[in-house]
Amino acid sequence: MQKHWWQEVVVYQIYPRSFKDSNGDGIGDILGIIEKLDYLEKLGIGAIWLSPVYASPNDDNGYDISDYEAIMEEFGTMADVERLIAEADKRHIKIVMDLVVNHTSDEHAWFVEAKKSKDNDYRDYYVWADPAEDGGVPNDLRSTFSGSAWAYDEESQQYYLHLFSKKQPDLNWQNEKVRQEVYDMMNRWIDKGIGGFRMDVIDLIGKVPEESITGNGPRLHEFIHEMNRATFGDKNLLTVGETWGATPEIAKEYSDPKREELGMVFQFEHSGLDQIDGKDKWDLRPLQVKELKEVFSKWQNELGTEGWNSLFWNNHDLPRIVSRWGNDTTYRIQSAKALAILLHMMKGTPYIYQGEEIGMVNTPITDISQASDIETVNMYNERLEEGYSKEEVLASINTKGRDNARRPMQWDDTENAGFTTGTPWLALNDRYHEINVKNALSDHDSIFYTYQKLVQLRKNHPLMVWGDYNLLETVDEVFSYTRSYEGETWLVVVNFSDDPHPFSSNLPIEEIIIQNSETSLKTIKEMVLAPWQAFVVRIANK
Ligand code: NOJ
Repeated sequence: MQKHWWQEVVVYQIYPRSFKDSNGDGIGDILGIIEKLDYLEKLGIGAIWLSPVYASPNDDNGYDISDYEAIMEEFGTMADVERLIAEADKRHIKIVMDLVVNHTSDEHAWFVEAKKSKDNDYRDYYVWADPAEDGGVPNDLRSTFSGSAWAYDEESQQYYLHLFSKKQPDLNWQNEKVRQEVYDMMNRWIDKGIGGFRMDVIDLIGKVPEESITGNGPRLHEFIHEMNRATFGDKNLLTVGETWGATPEIAKEYSDPKREELGMVFQFEHSGLDQIDGKDKWDLRPLQVKELKEVFSKWQNELGTEGWNSLFWNNHDLPRIVSRWGNDTTYRIQSAKALAILLHMMKGTPYIYQGEEIGMVNTPITDISQASDIETVNMYNERLEEGYSKEEVLASINTKGRDNARRPMQWDDTENAGFTTGTPWLALNDRYHEINVKNALSDHDSIFYTYQKLVQLRKNHPLMVWGDYNLLETVDEVFSYTRSYEGETWLVVVNFSDDPHPFSSNLPIEEIIIQNSETSLKTIKEMVLAPWQAFVVRIANK
C-alpha cells in the first residue's frame, strides 16, 4: 500500500471562535491562531483541522455557511486566512479546511434565490416537497436538532428539508449543478495551498428523503468518487469524512485507496458506548471498558490495508474526555495521560482537540440560560415539553452537551485565561487558574509533555504508524495490547479505572518508551497497576 503523509502526522483541531481572540471582541479569530502557531509547532502536530471560518449567520457556529469563499467578519479576512496557510507552512503544518456541503445557511445566495419561486434556477439546489395529504409535513424525518426535518415555506406552499436547523437547508446532491458548484469551490480552495478537507456529515449527501433515507444513500459513493476525480484526487491531500454509523465494512468503501474516494473516516462507534442502545446521545449509561476494548480492537483489526481510520477522544461536538471517561478531580493528570497513551499508541491518524493537551474539563451549568449550543437548547425545550424534569435534562447536558468542548481555550491564569481582553462570547470554565497552557508549559511533568512525546514518538517510530495490533487478555478494567513491526514489539498497558488492578506478563522488557508515573518497571509479572497507571515498553527480541 502506498504510504501518505497524512497517515504519519498528528492533527490538531481548532474551533476558531474559542481558540484565541486577537482584537478584544471576545471572539477567537484567525490572527489569534497565527499568534499560537509556535505553540502548536512545539506540540509537534503536522496539520490543523480548522472548524469553519466562512461567512455565516452563526445559527450553528459556522456550520451554517452563507458564502464558502468569504471569511466570517468576526474571524478576519481572506488575506488573514492566506497568511495563516503560509505561516503554518513555514512550521510544516498544513491547514485542513472544514467542508460543509450537506447543507448551506438559509442566507446563502443559492437559497435566497431558491426561495423566490418554484421555477427559480436555484430551486432544485435544495430539497423541496409538497405537504402530505393532510397538509402536514411530507414524512417523519427528524432534525438532529429536534423536531421535524421539514420547514414550511408559506410563499411557495412547499416544505424544504433541513436535517439540522431550519437555517441549514439541505443541498440536493442529485442535482449535477450543485455538485459542480461544490467541486469548483473546492478547487479554488485547493489552489490556495490548503492541506485538505474534513468533510462534515458527508455520509448524508446521498440522501433520498422521499424514502426516508438519510445516511449511506444509494448514490453516496458515486458522488464521493466523482468529487475525488474532480478535485483532490491527484493532489495528495488529507481528506477525512465525518461518517456517523460507519462499520469497518462501510469505512473501506470510503477509504480503500483503490476506490478513489477519501483518505480516511472519522467514525464514532466508541463514542456511542455510554448511551442506551437504540436511544439518543442524551440517554446515558456508564461506559463498560470491556466494550470499549471490543470496539477499538475491531477497528484496529478489520481495516487491514483497505482503509484508514482516525483516532480521537474529543472534538467540538463531544464532551471533554477527562471528564467523560477519565477522572477530572483526583486523577485528572494521571487519567488524561493514560487516555492519551492508550489512543496514540493505536493505528490510525490521531486528532487532538484544542485544550485536550492540557486536560481541559467539562463546564457544568445549573440553568439553560448558561448554554449557547442550538442542539442543547432545542433538546432542552423538547424534553421539558415531553415531561422530563429539568434536573434530568441538565444532567444529560452536563455529561454530553457540546458547549463543554466550546468554552474558550485556557492560555494562562490572568482574567479570561488570556483568551480575550474583552468579554468572552461564552463563559470560561472556572478552573482556568489551575488548568492552563502557561502552567502546562512550565511543568515538565504536565499532560502537555505527554502529548508532545507521543507526537514525537510517532514521527520517529514507524511501528506506531504501521505496526500490527494485538489485544491481550486482562481483567476488564485493564486495556493492554501490543504493536509489532519489522521484528520489534511494544506492549501498551493502561489501567482504565480509579482502582488498582492486577496485570501480569512474562514478556521481557528492554526499554520503557513512555509512562505516566515514575516506576522502574523492572518486571511486569504479577504487578498491581495504580489507578490510571499507563505505560508502553519495548519487548526484548529473543
Ligand atoms: C457535524 C458538525 O461537527 C456539527 O458541529 C454540526 O452541527 C453538524 N455537522 C451540522 O453541520
